[in-house]
Amino acid sequence: MPVSNHDLLEAWKQVLTLSGLGAGHAVTVLTGSHSNEQTASAAIAAARALGARVTRILLEPVNAEKSLSRDPLAYLGSTPLTGNKVAMAACLASDFVIDLMLLLFSPEQQEILAAGTRILLAVEPPEILLRMVPNEADRLRVKDASVRLQAAREMTVRSAAGTDIRFALGQYPVITEYGLVDEPGRWDHWPSGFLFTWPNEGQSEGTLVIDSGDILLPAKRYAADPISLTVRGGYVVAIDGGLEAELFREYMESFEDPEGYAMSHIGWGLQPRARWATLSLYDREQTIGMDARAYAGNFLFSLGPNGEVGGTRHTPCHIDVPLRGCTVSLDGEPVVVNGVPVP
Ligand SMILES: [Fe+2]
Repeated sequence: MPVSNHDLLEAWKQVLTLSGLGAGHAVTVLTGSHSNEQTASAAIAAARALGARVTRILLEPVNAEKSLSRDPLAYLGSTPLTGNKVAMAACLASDFVIDLMLLLFSPEQQEILAAGTRILLAVEPPEILLRMVPNEADRLRVKDASVRLQAAREMTVRSAAGTDIRFALGQYPVITEYGLVDEPGRWDHWPSGFLFTWPNEGQSEGTLVIDSGDILLPAKRYAADPISLTVRGGYVVAIDGGLEAELFREYMESFEDPEGYAMSHIGWGLQPRARWATLSLYDREQTIGMDARAYAGNFLFSLGPNGEVGGTRHTPCHIDVPLRGCTVSLDGEPVVVNGVPVP
C-alpha cells in the first residue's frame, strides 16, 4: 500500500524522539542510488522539525562486480564510506547518522559508533517501516530477553524437522535490535525486534535442519525441500539434501572463503508485527527481509563474520536463516517452545 507523507513523517518523529534526538543535534543522512526518496524526505523533515541540523550525503555504490546477488546484505566488508574521508568526517562530527544506504558490518561503522555517534539504519520500504514503527514495548521486550541471554552459558536448539545443536556462550556480547538509538554509540535497525549473540569460537556442535518453508537470506526464498547442515567445531562441515542443498553449497563456494562456513550470530525473534508470510507477497528486489529476521519465535542463525563484536572474522559471506518450529533453551530453560516465545 502507498504510504502518505504525513504518516511517514509522524513515524520518523516518533522514532527520532524516542531515540533522544533534539534541538541543535547534528544529523547526517547517508543515501545511495537505491535509497527510498520518500523515506529520505520524511527523515530529513522529521529531524528538522525536532530542531536538528541536517546534512544529506549521496554516496556511490560499491561491490557490484563481486556480489552474485542484488541484495545489499549479500556482500560485506568495504562500503561506500571506505576511504571516503569527506563523508567519514561528516559522520564522525554528527550526533546521529541515519543510514538509508546500508553500512552493516564495516570497520567504518565501528569507528563512527566509537566516536559516540548513533546510527539508525532504515532501508525497508515505507509501508514496512510504518507497520513496525518501534515503540517502548518493543524496546522492553527485547531488553528483558537480553538479560537472560547475557547470563546464559549454553544455548540448545531442537526442532521436529531435525535441528539438534548446542552452542557454548559467554565469549561475545549480546546485541539487541529494537529500532531505536536511545544511547550514544548505539547502532540499531528499523524495523527489527530481536536479539542475538555469537557462540564461543569453535564451540558449536550439532545439526541445523532448514525445513521446507523456512526462509533463506539473502536468497529471499522459502526453501522447497530440507537442507541439513552438520556443524563441528564451530563450522558447517557438510551441506546435505536435494536441490536446495545444491544451491546453498554452490552459493557458499562462490566466496572461496573457508571462514564463510563459521557459525555467526544466533538468537530469536520477538516482533509480533513481523510476519513469516510477508516475503511471499513481495518481489525480492523490494525488501531485505526484515520480517523474516524479526517474526516472533523464529530461531535466527547466521554464517560468516563476527567482526561486529570484536572477533577477527571479516568474511564477505553472510547468510541469515530464520527457522520455524524450534525450541530454544538457555542453560536448559526454554525461551521459545515450538516456535512460540515464552512470555
Ligand atoms: Fe546476519
